[in-house]
Amino acid sequence: MKRKRIVIFGANGMLGHDLRKVLEKDYDLVLTDIQDGDIRDFSFVEKFLNKNLPSIVINSAAYTDVDGCEKNQKIAMEVNAYGAGNIAKASKKISSWLIHISSDYVFDGKKNLPYKEDDPINPLSIYGKSKALAEELVRKEANNYLIIRPQWLYGKAGKNFVFTILNLSKKQKEIKVVADQFGSPTYTYELSKAIKVAIEKKLQGIFHIAASGYCSWYDFAKEILKISGITETEVIPISSDDLKRPASRPNNSKLDCSKWQKFTSFPMKSWQKALKDFILSIKQEGIFK
Ligand SMILES: NC(=O)c1ccc[n+]([C@@H]2O[C@H](COP(=O)([O-])OP(=O)(O)OC[C@H]3O[C@@H](n4cnc5c(N)ncnc54)[C@H](OP(=O)(O)O)[C@@H]3O)[C@@H](O)[C@H]2O)c1
Repeated sequence: MKRKRIVIFGANGMLGHDLRKVLEKDYDLVLTDIQDGDIRDFSFVEKFLNKNLPSIVINSAAYTDVDGCEKNQKIAMEVNAYGAGNIAKASKKISSWLIHISSDYVFDGKKNLPYKEDDPINPLSIYGKSKALAEELVRKEANNYLIIRPQWLYGKAGKNFVFTILNLSKKQKEIKVVADQFGSPTYTYELSKAIKVAIEKKLQGIFHIAASGYCSWYDFAKEILKISGITETEVIPISSDDLKRPASRPNNSKLDCSKWQKFTSFPMKSWQKALKDFILSIKQEGIFK
């Protein structure tokens, strides 16, 4: 049987890297990233899709430096929002199914319970605003789409919180970490497996997908050190106000993934189990010593 073709924008990014690993066995993958062309350029996106005629397009490309987006608002909007709009428009022209990766930062974090897909969005940061506008453009431009909102991603192929904590633990006896923001740390490899299931199930609309269970960044840091057997470094809880970062983040970033569970019955690992797998794997592969 002829394999379905998937174009991945942002294929060299942290999620893109694991998407490739998970999808390459069953799909004909065509990979692209900033080196080949810029998603802000509609003619590049259109030509690339017209040349490859994929059944499915995954947009994992984004300007993901949340604090950097506050300084570079124009770039954030152009890449994250209008770039996504370009991909949606060009995908529709060739009748491809668009899978767009969004974010938990479209919410303001003021709700007491985990966020459901149809809760009102109200982003706090420029990054969140750019991702929210992207969702609007995808819904407007593409009629065959899946928007996935993941959160707190870490993986082997990118800068992320796990590497930051492990690096700091080599230099510092104390690491201060915010204890008043809550969510689910999600391994890009596990998310990629879930995206494969979403493809097989032909999901449409918006879905929240994250590891199961919730914690704060402080809990996450402590678990990283515990799993790694690092006892000489202490994690000190601080508040978001203490940290004074350029971009505001939601305090409650918890995503309710029950819609995903209902439609797929695919069990997402607990954040602790997935983190253990990740740390074991980076040690075995010598990615982190
Ligand atoms: N990381 C998280 O915690 C997190 C949480 C929730 C949602 N998400 C979303 O998940 C998706 C994947 O995130 P990620 O962590 O894998 O991001 P990433 O590692 O930063 O990967 C994004 C890729 O897009 C590329 N890119 C940037 N601007 C581009 C442009 N104008 N044209 C073409 N390619 C461009 C980047 O290239 P350069 O590296 O050269 O810029 C990079 O290779 C994004 O949509 C992100 O918003 C991420």
